[in-house]
Amino acid sequence: PRLSRMLEELQEGIEDGLVPAWIFNDPELFELEKERIFSRSWVYLAHESEIPKPGDYVLRYVLNNPYILVRGEDGVVRALLDMCRHRGMRVCRAELGNASHFRCPFHGWTYRNDGRLIGVPAEREAFGQDFNKEEWGLVPIPRLEAFDGMIFGNLDPEAPSLEEWLGDIRWYLELVTKRSPQGLEVLGPPQRWVVHTDWKLALETFLSDSYHTLMTHRSLIELGIAPKDAKYAMYGEQIHIPGKGHGSMVVGAPPGAKLPPFWGYPEEMLERARTSYPTREQFETARETRILLVTLFPNFSFHNPIRKPDHKYQGAVPMLTFRVWHPLGPGRIEIFSWALVEKDAPEWFKEKTRHSYLRFFGSSGTFEQDDTEIWSHVAHNAATTQGRHLRFNYRMGLKLEPDPNWPGPGVAYGLNFTDANMRNFHRRYLEMLLS
Ligand code: FES
Ligand code: FE
Repeated sequence: PRLSRMLEELQEGIEDGLVPAWIFNDPELFELEKERIFSRSWVYLAHESEIPKPGDYVLRYVLNNPYILVRGEDGVVRALLDMCRHRGMRVCRAELGNASHFRCPFHGWTYRNDGRLIGVPAEREAFGQDFNKEEWGLVPIPRLEAFDGMIFGNLDPEAPSLEEWLGDIRWYLELVTKRSPQGLEVLGPPQRWVVHTDWKLALETFLSDSYHTLMTHRSLIELGIAPKDAKYAMYGEQIHIPGKGHGSMVVGAPPGAKLPPFWGYPEEMLERARTSYPTREQFETARETRILLVTLFPNFSFHNPIRKPDHKYQGAVPMLTFRVWHPLGPGRIEIFSWALVEKDAPEWFKEKTRHSYLRFFGSSGTFEQDDTEIWSHVAHNAATTQGRHLRFNYRMGLKLEPDPNWPGPGVAYGLNFTDANMRNFHRRYLEMLLS
């Protein structure tokens, strides 16, 4: 009854652009999110470049389920539940590595890296002649699919295909995944850290909140690291995919600012992009872009801004980060943050872009620290006895009309100071909670 009252309040709030604070820190709602959202959604696990060779593996999580994402000797990537079929011990105890087999440290059952059980100590004496090892392999994730090297898992065997789930947001993903014919590679394993906040608070900043840069990141403007015009993030298009919950922000150069085209990527990469994008519209959009963010429902974002890696460096070195807002509990998340670059980018550029990433994002990044501190205070307040019933304002840009000239799919607004993407996310979120 408490929960159904809450859902009614949430429904009313979402229709009105006034969302109750408690959605950002409530144990009962979190249980419902686990069941209705995270057990049925496509969740980002890894980039294929993290496990290029047979036997390469990384451990990744959907909710609290540990999956060994491993490339078998046959080259096929599988996600196997890291839980021994005998009595439940974890069989993989490193976060990444290369292994032909996983041997359980409890009683020694041994599995090949495709999940088959192939060794049982004292098999005949312990389990007899007719023990069938084929029935006791590691359990694969119900669904595993990839888009342009991005690997996703889904706990729901009945889920729609990843392609259908993504829908029109693919056009925006491709601005990054198809920028070069060879695609992307990770620059090392992800940085990971725990933040006392809600996954939706982190996500909304990347999905929709260009408005916070004015204040949260003000010091970077004052230091001359971010563009001089404090409203720089406003000059962009905000796009959402109705019914899906996904969204993007495509930001150009502020008026009068001299910023190189194509995020500041090297000339040779711009030339390659001309033929590597599927459509001319995507190439032309990319050429005018300085900052690009894409967020996928429910908990993946990427951020691809133009950056000046330090105040002495002449020119711009853009960076690309993928991140997962991994829910740990009410008011607690683990951030997984990767830096990526085009495989065929020049070596000097790979090094510089890694520096750009480290300087601005990741656990030591200036932008990241600005954001995470704020997210944790909001989540704290959302669980206070007085604060939890306040309603947050998601009414920015309610009167804006869609931009009819935008070349990409989805509903686009020509001014980025709007909560349109969040309102679309909230509708999808509620729909999944209720169904
Ligand atoms: Fe793994 Fe017994 S729990 S071998
Ligand atoms: Fe921020």
